[in-house]
Parts: sequence; structure tokens; C-alpha cells
Amino acid sequence: DCSIVTILTLKKNPFGGDGSPQSSPGEVTEAVKVAILAGYRHIDGAHVYENEKEVGAGIHAMIDQGVVKREELFIVSKLWCTYHERSLVRGACEKTLSDLKLDHLDLYLMHFPMGLKPGEELFPFDAEGQVIPDNSSFLETWEEMEKLVDAGLVKAIGISNFNREQIEAVLNKPGLKYKPVNNQIECHPYLTQEKLINFCHSKGITVTAYSPLGSPERPWANADELSHLKDPQIRAIADKYKKTTAQVLIRFHIERNVAVIPKSTNPGRIKENFQVFDFKLRKEDMNTILSFNRNWRVFPMDW
Ligand code: A2P
Repeated sequence: DCSIVTILTLKKNPFGGDGSPQSSPGEVTEAVKVAILAGYRHIDGAHVYENEKEVGAGIHAMIDQGVVKREELFIVSKLWCTYHERSLVRGACEKTLSDLKLDHLDLYLMHFPMGLKPGEELFPFDAEGQVIPDNSSFLETWEEMEKLVDAGLVKAIGISNFNREQIEAVLNKPGLKYKPVNNQIECHPYLTQEKLINFCHSKGITVTAYSPLGSPERPWANADELSHLKDPQIRAIADKYKKTTAQVLIRFHIERNVAVIPKSTNPGRIKENFQVFDFKLRKEDMNTILSFNRNWRVFPMDW
């Protein structure tokens, strides 16, 4: 069973430059509707994408029209870093639920293993361009997230952008009530994450791959960088299967039992990205794709 997700837009570019890819509100609602009509059931969102009201409008339009029932959808959101302090976690989740107009989430992830200074600014930077931390530890934040499960606000909780050491800290926390069920990490042929995926799976933690297409429109892309979608070796594999490079890049995760969340607001590409259940990548092609690993990150997170 695979989940493919569609919504990942940052309105503001925290890294400077000309601004990240933006999606207009109507475009996001329309994309959610097109995705659900195309068969997508897993919707990946986050408070920091600043579009949860529009995502919710798309979801409710499809429920109201009888296209899908709430219980058939798997709706994910993420706790933003400026809400890591104990007193802020529940309110942050309630804000997401009220924006989405839902009474529960299927999965709520801690977006990053670090807290940032609470306040209006989603990305509090100091004069030197360094992020300003808060006083929390992610273990305390995790305890507050466990309470959201008990309160019925979320069915399950997980993590995102956690490395092995950080995951072990959660798993070994004295009094741990709920294990993370999922770790959402950057993963694609240039960052294949073999060790981290094997570790997560060995602990019963599912993995979701973000930036599966290498986020080609990121504003800090280097013109000389080889894009996954244009990579001639990936294209050669796609040609063999009479598929697009995007479809091969998506199928790559499905073969590894990893959930995958390609972002698109374009109706044609949303549909294209779902046509991945009528072929399988042979072992030798998987091994070839795995050999492209170069530990290269779309999001180096040097901040
Ligand atoms: P668009 O929204 O215009 O379709 P990632 O999921 O790795 O972050 O990549 C998302 C980017 O890839 C978006 O800019 C999206 O643009 C583009 N994209 C999504 N699907 C495809 C596809 N099938 N072919 C080419 N580009 C795609």
C-alpha cells in the first residue's frame, strides 16, 4: 500500500533569494481536489507551508461531493519549530485542525528535532543569519505530542528530519508512551539514505521520502547542478519502462517500501505522478539508481 502526497509549498523563502515556489490559494485547493479525484489519499501538509486553510477547503469539497469519505483519507501535518515549548504544542495542533476544519489528524509529525524562538516569526534569525533557538528539548516536545494522541486530536505521532542518534534518544526516553510511527526525510537517488531507512525499518518506524524529484524549482538551485528529472541515466531507465523520469523517481521509493510525497500543483503532473502502480523496477535497475547516491541534499539546513 502506498501513499502519495501532493501539497508542499512554502510561501516564504527562509533562505533568502527571490522567494520559493509559491502556490496561490485557489491553486492549492484545486490541486487537492484534482489529487483526490486522481486517487491520492495521503495528503501531506504542515503549518509552516501557510496553506492549511486552502488544503482543508479542497478536502472538504471532495468529502461534500461524495468523492471520498474522511476515513478514507490519511491527513498529515507537522508541528512547527516555534511551537516546541511544552505550553505551545497543543495550541499549535488545534490551530492546524481549525485551519483544516478537521477534528483529528491521522499523523502529526515533529517537523524538526529542534525548537525555535516562539513568536510571530516562523523563521526567527539573528543579525548573523543564525536561527534563534528556544529552551525546549525534543524529548519534552515529544511528551506533549503523546498527550495529543490521548486527547484524540491525532491518531499517531511521528518525526521528520531526525537522524539515527535523535531517533535513539526518543526510543530510549524513560517513560516513553508512544514510539514514533514515521520519520519523514529527504530521499531521492542522490541521497538514498540506505542506513537511515534500514535503521528506521528495523525499529518498526515507517519512512516517508520528501523531495523525491529533487525539488527542481528550489530558489537556491545551482544552474550547473544535474537535476534528477534531466539526469540522462535516470531517463534511460525510464525509457526502458516507457515511463517518465518522474514516475521512475517515485516508483524507486515504492520498491523500497517507503512512502513518497511528490509535490505538484499542476493537474497533468499530479495525474502523471499517480500512474506508478502498473510497473515494477527490476532489481538491477534499483541497484543502478542506488549507485547514484552522492549524499547531496536539497535542504542542507546549515541554518
Ligand atoms: P509543479 O508543481 O509545477 O508540477 P519535489 O516533490 O521533489 O519537491 O519536486 C516538486 C517540483 O517538481 C515542483 O516544482 C513541481 O512543479 C515539479 N514536478 C512535480 N511533478 C513533476 C513531473 N511529473 N514532471 C516534472 N516536474 C514535476
